Amino acid sequence: MSQKTCSTTASGPSHVEVYRQALASSEPFSALAPMQAVSSLEFWQVMQARGGPDLYFTEYFRVHSTSRPDRFILRSIDQNPTGRPVIAQMIGNDIPALIKTAKELAKHPVAGIDLNLGCPAPIVYKKCAGGGLLREPERVDAILGSLREAISLPFSVKTRLGFEASHELDKLLSVFARHPLDLLTLHGRTVKQMYRSAVDYDAIAKAVTSLPFPVLINGNVHSAKHAMQVHKQTQGAGWMIGRGAIRNPWLFDQIRALAKGQEPALPTGQDVLAYIEDLYHTLRYIPVSDEAHINRLKKYLNFIGLGIDRNGEFLHAMRQTRTREAFFHIARQHLDHASPMPLEPLDIPMKPRDVLAGVHR
Ligand SMILES: Cc1cc2nc3c(=O)[nH]c(=O)nc-3n(C[C@H](O)[C@H](O)[C@H](O)COP(=O)(O)O)c2cc1C
Repeated sequence: MSQKTCSTTASGPSHVEVYRQALASSEPFSALAPMQAVSSLEFWQVMQARGGPDLYFTEYFRVHSTSRPDRFILRSIDQNPTGRPVIAQMIGNDIPALIKTAKELAKHPVAGIDLNLGCPAPIVYKKCAGGGLLREPERVDAILGSLREAISLPFSVKTRLGFEASHELDKLLSVFARHPLDLLTLHGRTVKQMYRSAVDYDAIAKAVTSLPFPVLINGNVHSAKHAMQVHKQTQGAGWMIGRGAIRNPWLFDQIRALAKGQEPALPTGQDVLAYIEDLYHTLRYIPVSDEAHINRLKKYLNFIGLGIDRNGEFLHAMRQTRTREAFFHIARQHLDHASPMPLEPLDIPMKPRDVLAGVHR
């Protein structure tokens, strides 16, 4: 473990210590989910300006026999603008390469290492990585044993209920329980269920009672009230939130308020407008055309648009947008007002290919 990651400085505890304190605490904590092509340093900066989670996870580092840690993802660790701990996620199945990468990552200011055992993208699972590994519990056992022995930082796993069916969870839980992990994040769907079916929080509750380490609740957490409900139902250690936080970056602060018995503050239309303008300007760090930049922002707008208007007019108009003028015009047209915005996901019809968007409640 590097000095940089675990020394206590005059300014306070290191991020490793802050992370360990959260893991040991009885208070629930929150994390922004790892999201490929979303979880950049700039996006974290925009989130943190609106409250931010307690922990940030990087998108996954792809690991294979000849891989080197991706420099763009490393940049978000080295220049972490949030002041909060960052956990580096890896994906792969080559044990020596995973160990080598974990040791390289530990030389950077990471608070912990996470292993992805849930990615449902066919290109990943067909190579027996991510969610594909859930079909081979013995292999998971061997990978976790080797990594746990090699990693002195907090080591966690992010997974799903199984590959094909949720009854696979029992076997997986017995494998996880054999290793002294520091945390398990459980997305309450199988790999085959991808992103849009109902989330099985009872299965998460089962993991919480049967594992000797903390379990983070993941999947469809969409409001502070809902976060409280699923916490009560599962007794999980806290929440990992992805799409709900893109749609509503105030969600983490709203959860903190409600946990203290306070009424969460709702942003106004103008606050949401400022969020979208901030995304436009802050995420614009590579010199590309307006059109290319707007196309990239559509990844975020696909989720934000689900909380703006019931008819999906904002989302539909944004999806057609190609110019900077039209982008800001549509945003102002829908959001230049001082009324409160619940930002709850609305039932806007989606095409089957919108696997990541659509209703997630
Ligand atoms: C755009 C996008 C990219 C994602 N990339 C990753 C990733 O790199 N690693 C990972 O473990 N999960 C990834 N996920 C899954 C999320 O971390 C999370 O488990 C899932 O979206 C369910 O949580 P939510 O309903 O709060 O979004 C991704 C999800 C989305 C929407």
